[in-house]
Amino acid sequence: MSNTEFVVSPYDPATHKPALLEFLSTVYDRDTLARRESVMDWVHLHHPHRERQPLRYVIMDGAKVAATMGHLPCDFLVDGQVVAARYTHDLLVDPTYRGKGLAKRIVSNAPAQGEFLPGGMWMTGPCYKIHLACGFDDAPPLPVRTLVLDTDQFVGRKYGSGIKGRLAGVALSLLRRRALARAENTPGIVCRDIGEFDPAHDDAWMALLKTYRITMLRDAAHLNWKYMRHPVLQYSACIAERGGEPAGFMIWRQPWHNDEEKRAVITDFVVARGDVVAFESLLAHVIREVRDSAAVVSALSSQPWAAKVLRGFGFLPRQDSHAWVVGNWKDLIFTRDFADTGSWHMCMGDSDGDLWTGSA
Ligand SMILES: CC(C)(COP(=O)(O)OP(=O)(O)OC[C@H]1O[C@@H](n2cnc3c(N)ncnc32)[C@H](O)[C@@H]1OP(=O)(O)O)[C@@H](O)C(=O)NCCC(=O)NCCS
Repeated sequence: MSNTEFVVSPYDPATHKPALLEFLSTVYDRDTLARRESVMDWVHLHHPHRERQPLRYVIMDGAKVAATMGHLPCDFLVDGQVVAARYTHDLLVDPTYRGKGLAKRIVSNAPAQGEFLPGGMWMTGPCYKIHLACGFDDAPPLPVRTLVLDTDQFVGRKYGSGIKGRLAGVALSLLRRRALARAENTPGIVCRDIGEFDPAHDDAWMALLKTYRITMLRDAAHLNWKYMRHPVLQYSACIAERGGEPAGFMIWRQPWHNDEEKRAVITDFVVARGDVVAFESLLAHVIREVRDSAAVVSALSSQPWAAKVLRGFGFLPRQDSHAWVVGNWKDLIFTRDFADTGSWHMCMGDSDGDLWTGSA
């Protein structure tokens, strides 16, 4: 087939799913493929905005899927207004079709749909480059921050047993002790674990979210779908209350069972902008929950005040920052706000976040 004949089409599970699974079976082993299928079904059958079709595009070559990319719908709040948005994710080109411009074709299709595309965050280098070539803009990079809980394990993996490792070990032990002491001593807020988010709290979360200029809307339908009912990963959640009123929440997961690094991940949180006490209380709660099973715990926040709290707990920025791209934003957001990470509330759960872990 010549390049001009490759057409981007909306994905219809009834028509395309067998061919998509056939294609994926050439890339993934059987167990990974089974997990991946369950994640795709969960998106297509249970996403709270699944009526906002299409949720995925494909490029077909006859009966074969040559390329695919997902379009995850979500709502954003921009200066208090609800804006329909999508995250592009899960770009994959069949190895036998690579180098023919198919990725560029399917990524270019996203801005052409006209919706707000707030990222693109968990991308490989080529994927990032392709998004920039296809109408997305570079946003300021966001560093993931990591707190070391098991110093010996971390130092052994990263530095081995030489002098550099011993020095790093001493420094990290000090930071860890300080972080845990801090986690024992946060005042004023009660954190309680929950099994599911209650829609009765949606107005409270909305009020907290409106303290940020640009953020994804998080309500019970979204949070329960994305985290509490994920088909592969097990997340935990807690709510912070101040005087009995909701002051925020945090969502995390313990390390994935195949993860040698034993990394726990704080995927999502919301507190009012600048509410350091609520954020510290939630962090302290989560560190206590993960410290017996995880060697490290990671978190990300675009908010400078939250990054400062993380530093105070001993979280250190990883060397590599996450590239992050945004499309179709110019009619919605002033350039100065776009470039200022403090305008955005973004965390690990933004974009597709952790969604494919164990199945990608
Ligand atoms: C990355 C991927 C989608 C590229 O697909 P593709 O159809 O071969 O890409 P295209 O032919 O449209 O190439 C687009 C551009 O990316 C560049 N590119 C493609 N693959 C690349 C690679 N592995 N490394 C560096 N650059 C690459 C091409 O050179 C081209 O740049 P140019 O226009 O300046 O020449 C494909 O290799 C793939 O499916 N990889 C595995 C999955 C993956 O990494 N997905 C991204 C998840 S975030």
